[in-house]
Amino acid sequence: MNIRRARIEDLPGMQACNLRNLPENYSMKYFISLPLIVGYILAKMEEETAEAEQPHGHVTSISVLRSYRRLGIAKKLMLLSQESMASHRASHVALHVRKSNRAALSLYRDTLGFEVHDIEQKYYADGEDAYAMRLTLK
Ligand code: ACO
Repeated sequence: MNIRRARIEDLPGMQACNLRNLPENYSMKYFISLPLIVGYILAKMEEETAEAEQPHGHVTSISVLRSYRRLGIAKKLMLLSQESMASHRASHVALHVRKSNRAALSLYRDTLGFEVHDIEQKYYADGEDAYAMRLTLK
């Protein structure tokens, strides 16, 4: 028997099982609203850079639902994206983070070894500064 986390294509089967076994039933809308996706990373390769600059990766956004935090999910997502960037010959990975974002800063700096490359004043729409961070890929 294989027990694993449900995928979106499992939902009709889960609903059929519920209908067969229990008097309390739920609409497909309810099943779809369940938090099956608990985190994501949006990352990309920057290929069209200035001549002197090598292709590198960029993390645009990463997020994990509150009740699934501190389980190593973000670290795993970051490492997977770094692996993929390295396989595309990225020299480094870059990202921006709010100066006040202690959790993310700790993830990038202390856990993954990123360094502050620059401080971009008023980078965010609300006026907060950003740390531009980088990690060299081997
Ligand atoms: N306080 C201090 N250190 C933390 C915290 C925290 N709240 N959260 C993570 N860390 C550090 C710790 O060193 C942790 O290791 P440990 O748990 O062994 O001590 C390490 O990061 C790895 O933590 P994960 O469990 O992998 O991180 P998690 O899955 O909880 O996700 C994240 C971290 C993405 C920052 C989460 O808190 C989140 O979704 N926050 C809201 C969205 C956000 O701020 N995203 C980043 C914006 S910047 C950008 O997207 C480029």
